[in-house]
Amino acid sequence: FHVQWDMEAAEKGGYDHFMIKEICEQPKAIRDTLKGRLDLEKKKVVLKEIGLDKEAIERIDRIFITACGTAYHAGLVGKYVIERMVQIPVEVDIASEFRYRDPLITENSLVIVISQSGETADTLAALRMAQKKGARVLAITNVVGSSVAREADDVIYTWAGPEIAVASTKAYVTQLIAIYLLSCYLGQLRGTVSGEQLEEIIEALVRLPGQAEAVLKQQTQIREMARRWAKWEDAFFIGRSLDYAVAMEGQLKLKEISYIHAEAYAAGELKHGTLALIVEGVPVIVLATQKEVYEKTISNLQEVKARGAYITAVAFESDQEIGKLVEETIYIPDTISLVAPVLTVIPLQLLAYYAAVERGSDVDKPRNLAKSVTVE
Ligand code: G6P
Repeated sequence: FHVQWDMEAAEKGGYDHFMIKEICEQPKAIRDTLKGRLDLEKKKVVLKEIGLDKEAIERIDRIFITACGTAYHAGLVGKYVIERMVQIPVEVDIASEFRYRDPLITENSLVIVISQSGETADTLAALRMAQKKGARVLAITNVVGSSVAREADDVIYTWAGPEIAVASTKAYVTQLIAIYLLSCYLGQLRGTVSGEQLEEIIEALVRLPGQAEAVLKQQTQIREMARRWAKWEDAFFIGRSLDYAVAMEGQLKLKEISYIHAEAYAAGELKHGTLALIVEGVPVIVLATQKEVYEKTISNLQEVKARGAYITAVAFESDQEIGKLVEETIYIPDTISLVAPVLTVIPLQLLAYYAAVERGSDVDKPRNLAKSVTVE
């Protein structure tokens, strides 16, 4: 069936652009996507909507995630999270690659497709190909009744509400939430997460909407930073582990709407090439929220600092050290490393947005891009 989008929701509600409105709607989008899916008493995730049961998940020996654009970046987070919690190998692939490379899908594969619109041509084709090969397909989508939703075997809806701006923001954070919920759920079924871990993650998820609000309160400071960013022509985003996945999304946001060239690099890979481009004054954004690799990230920060980079760090509030090493720091509320992407992406969205505004771009409709790519 078709969903009639509320005309009022389609208006900007006092904001200059849909994009900033949608960025600001993220706390609500997160809350709505969590709603009804957490059993706070039993400390469990409840996903009544999916038919994937204990028996079905026991059979799965490999998981594939496929998507395009921002949804693909959510998939990058998905790989880390699912492997850690569900202990099944996960491959992530861009749908336009996946569908043509004859992946080794079998009846024991689970294919997860992520699509805000549920209509992206390559993602839909990847879904059909996977089903043809006998795999079970689970979709994470924002549009009820979309093609992806209708054709997938299981659907987890993200409740971000209509997303109008071409550059995806609130859909991305809700895709992350769907991934956490799914990972907890599958981990529960397979017994690969302990009760303690589940409790820790669920508590962290519950805190996210309020913490996202807190990040949004830093808009004035971020806008100020973006004035400087607007003058750049090239920027680098670095991080390790989940910070690297968020760096990928941060650079895409900046490119899409401000037309500033940007590249994301796994921080440990810098010295294999990109370091040659780091000279005096080159802007580098360092994401440093992943506890397990924090020291390693700081040594990569030191490498770019030694070459004169202009460094902006994104770190936890409790981080007393990083601020002393860099030009500017954006702090996010403390949480567990696993869910940090939901918070670290927000300042990157805001920086891209305000840099684009400063440069006079058509923020909601960037040149050459479409909201939904239904042709190949
Ligand atoms: C287009 C949009 C992107 C989006 C991508 C995938 O390129 O401009 O913002 O991430 O499509 O869209 P989907 O609806 O499948 O998530």
